[in-house]
Amino acid sequence: MEELWAKAYSSSANLGPGFDVLSLAHTAYYDIVSISAKRGNGDIKVEKIEGPFSSNVNENNSAYYAIKYMINDLKLNNYDIKIRIWKGIPVSSGLGGSGATAAAAVFALSNALNLGLKREELIKYAGYGEIASAGVPHYDNVSASLLGKLVVVGNIDDKIHAFNFDINASFIIFRPINYYLENKTQYMRSLLPKIVDFKQHVHDIGKLGILISSLLRGDLKSAGKAMDDIIVTNARAKAVPCFLEIKEALLNEGAYGVAISGAGPSIIVLYDKNAENLINVGLNIYKKCNINAEAKIVNPAPETKILDGNNWSFSEST
Ligand code: HSE
Repeated sequence: MEELWAKAYSSSANLGPGFDVLSLAHTAYYDIVSISAKRGNGDIKVEKIEGPFSSNVNENNSAYYAIKYMINDLKLNNYDIKIRIWKGIPVSSGLGGSGATAAAAVFALSNALNLGLKREELIKYAGYGEIASAGVPHYDNVSASLLGKLVVVGNIDDKIHAFNFDINASFIIFRPINYYLENKTQYMRSLLPKIVDFKQHVHDIGKLGILISSLLRGDLKSAGKAMDDIIVTNARAKAVPCFLEIKEALLNEGAYGVAISGAGPSIIVLYDKNAENLINVGLNIYKKCNINAEAKIVNPAPETKILDGNNWSFSEST
């Protein structure tokens, strides 16, 4: 039986505009998932969940959903699959934790069985794993974790298209600690309007175009100004602790852009200098709101990779 380990990084989806279509893989945290496959009857088992953020992950997690869908879709029911998860990404934080677990799982299985799947197929299977947390599949976080860097993902003719781009930018992630909401992503998605105002839609699409093109051109000032949509952020802002206060304060202190990371509660900040000051200002605001939080300086992260199976064991990641 072959066992393979894959490592996938955290991500921030949306970045203001770009709901479900734009995401950034970053170096804040990572997950490691191991997959073992042997001939059998299609039995899928999550054998172990460990690591610093394992406590809120149960057996019905995104890796299990994704692998189950993959096995059925590819008619691989003649294998038994064992899944082990080292959870290094905090869950329910808006940092693509469930997406990274699913990304690492499908990537490891594809490699273990030499399936030679295209990246869009991996994204499709991993995105299905998001049902475990969001209630519906979505592809932004899994695309970023799988491909790395800044990712744009969408559908054409019912097929996933995903592209990743190198960008030269640094970000700060603020994460409330011990702030766990059951079914958080589902709840945050339930706040979104079913029908949107056409002018607001045009505004947000314009910002998305400016954000992506500015990041690609290295114009961070303009990119930061574009991290500012109306429809999604307005619907969610009040449900994200301290978001409006932190956004206002950090923009005043010279940050280029401040947005809710994914469905929150984490916040992502685009900056180019005085990170320490920005972190202090942000953490002080959390203190005033009685929220324990941490901050990390992060850069765009690489794609999901297979770890050296001969020399690597789960205990090495702690
Ligand atoms: N695009 C998703 C959302 C990311 O904002 O709901 C959450 O994982």
